[in-house]
Amino acid sequence: MQNTSYESIKQVIKQRRAIFPPSYTGQEIPKSLLVELLECANTAPTHKRTQPWRFIVFRERGLTKLADQLAEQYKEHTPAEHFLQKKYENTREKVLQSGVVIAIAVSYSGALPQWEELAATACAVQNLWLAASAVGIGGYWSSPATIQHVGDFLGLAANEACLGFFYMGFHNEPARDANRSPILDKVRWEE
Ligand SMILES: Cc1cc2nc3c(=O)[nH]c(=O)nc-3n(C[C@H](O)[C@H](O)[C@H](O)COP(=O)(O)O)c2cc1C
Repeated sequence: MQNTSYESIKQVIKQRRAIFPPSYTGQEIPKSLLVELLECANTAPTHKRTQPWRFIVFRERGLTKLADQLAEQYKEHTPAEHFLQKKYENTREKVLQSGVVIAIAVSYSGALPQWEELAATACAVQNLWLAASAVGIGGYWSSPATIQHVGDFLGLAANEACLGFFYMGFHNEPARDANRSPILDKVRWEE
């Protein structure tokens, strides 16, 4: 007998792709839907239930503030000989093309090795990504070098760190297969 919830989740997992801002349509993402997607993130597994994921959601006028900040951080922290005006402009543009950009942060509790809280936060992002993908919202996780410098802008505490930004938008991209080498090349069986 076919298990429909297994078939559905398998399809959502396999169809999730990184979808980039130039493909976003500009359709508004309602705040109520964002809360639902964040609720999905919030059910990620978490050792000792430290729930270390933190999200700062940029939408509407917040996107302009973030666009300016990321572009300025790129300028400030890139040696003049490596600075590219095109990259500066793209950094702003991709934020402004997005329906929402979510800063991903981890809050280290001190109760666990940091890697466990990083791993839990990544699980939360995957939940968000899968749920967004299932409602037709594309996204991708961006981790530029400038994330080391955005703590003050994001209002992070001393035990918190930014792990990147999740760009999101409704999109019309056709489905494409995952580009992965075979799983059996990454598995060793002990039988
Ligand atoms: C922790 C993490 C950081 C990432 N950072 C970036 C990034 O800075 N730039 C980027 O283009 N993609 C980034 N990605 C997304 C991957 O590029 C994307 O998942 C990969 O290209 C595979 O595509 P797919 O997810 O559609 O299969 C990141 C993904 C993860 C998990």
